[in-house]
Amino acid sequence: MKTKVNSLQGCKRIALAVFCLAALLATVRAQTFTETAEQHQARMAAWREARFGLFMHWGLYSILGRGEWVQWNEQIPVNEYAKLADQFNPTNFDAKAWVAIAKSAGMKYMVLTTRHHDGFALFDDPGSDFTSVKTAAHRDFVAEYVKAARAEGMLVGLYYSPLDWRFPGFFFPDLQLKNAEEMRDQYHRQVQELMSNYGKIDILWFDGGEQNWLGFGGQWVSGAQWQKRPRGQPYRGRFNWQSDQVYAMLRRLQPGVIINGRADMPEDFHSREGDRALGDFDSEHPWELCTTLAGGVWGWKDNASVKPLRDCVQLLVKVVGRDGNFLLNVGPRPDGRIDPPQAQRLKEIGYWLGKYGESIYGTRGGPFLPGAYGASTYRNQKIYVHVLDWAGASKLLLPVIPAKVIRASLLAGGETGFAQTEQGIEISVPPSVQIDMDTVVVLELDQPASRLTPVAPISN
Ligand code: GLC
Repeated sequence: MKTKVNSLQGCKRIALAVFCLAALLATVRAQTFTETAEQHQARMAAWREARFGLFMHWGLYSILGRGEWVQWNEQIPVNEYAKLADQFNPTNFDAKAWVAIAKSAGMKYMVLTTRHHDGFALFDDPGSDFTSVKTAAHRDFVAEYVKAARAEGMLVGLYYSPLDWRFPGFFFPDLQLKNAEEMRDQYHRQVQELMSNYGKIDILWFDGGEQNWLGFGGQWVSGAQWQKRPRGQPYRGRFNWQSDQVYAMLRRLQPGVIINGRADMPEDFHSREGDRALGDFDSEHPWELCTTLAGGVWGWKDNASVKPLRDCVQLLVKVVGRDGNFLLNVGPRPDGRIDPPQAQRLKEIGYWLGKYGESIYGTRGGPFLPGAYGASTYRNQKIYVHVLDWAGASKLLLPVIPAKVIRASLLAGGETGFAQTEQGIEISVPPSVQIDMDTVVVLELDQPASRLTPVAPISN
């Protein structure tokens, strides 16, 4: 009897040791992903140079046309909402058409919601029936999208939400720990599917995977947007997303993929969200501003008013001038088409970029910091001063820089008067030649602009 107990304890000990070793190895693997600053820069280069991308929020919520939060906002019971999968058969979905629209906008990358907070996957997941492959559409939209985007040289991005409103464990991670762990299993499994089955993925865009997004302590009021737990009150319960394991898997399956910072993993870039989150210039930590093109919601909404062209272009310029990337969102219709007025606006942005793209793609923000006048970008020996507001004047005084300006011209064509003195660089463009949306003045220097430290504008 005693021997039996002993051998049982022995087995337990061995099992525990094996378990601890496995956990340790996973942690070590995650932590052993190290790279030099140069390697990191190389991994980020294509995305940084791209500067402008298309975000697409599309899923079952598109059928209701009231935004991607409709299930939460209207407290639609999970079973009732799930029935939408029987109707989701987007016969007009054509991935090539989406890519063509993104291309026409001058965008260089795309990010698709492979699965939002409602839990419906647009890809095949052997472990779940709540996917577009196993319901009415019988299609793997992620596969179609990735293929079409790749064929046109777009960087391919996948949005993924670890949280899933169908799991009570999300709302009560401690009371419903087992259920929360099932949600976590789904997360790990689905990320593995996404990172294994679709070739090289350039961007994995997480949303809602932080410990502090867990329901307990979040905002409950119906109609209000779910909020992260308040600062200083982090989640301290027993549930853990085990993101380190996901991170180790990511780095193993897709060593080059770049990720944002919404899943408690070392972020490659930071997400700023919404027009009001434009924020400050930051050339140290890569970042991206995402916002909506129409209606202020991400998922499709009928008759959503589309942002004016001027706002779109100026926002792009303000973002790139702050050294960020710009990810502009459309919510395609439930049948798979992008609304014609939205596609039209994107085309207009692309027309602008066709003329002025040199001042956006492959540039960095600065050296003149953004201000009331607008913003600036640079590449090699050229600085592009984007004057968005001349304040009724025909001259603009830029601060002193330790480089010589050899020539000043307008990107739209024609020379610009300029004088470089101890006070700074004065450029003059008569009002008749100023462009309301953005007058791009090109300053050619005697040396690379990357040598200059960012400098504040004179009057702000
Ligand atoms: C917010 C919204 C979410 C959307 C995301 C895009 O987190 O809640 O619906 O997908 O922004 O950044």
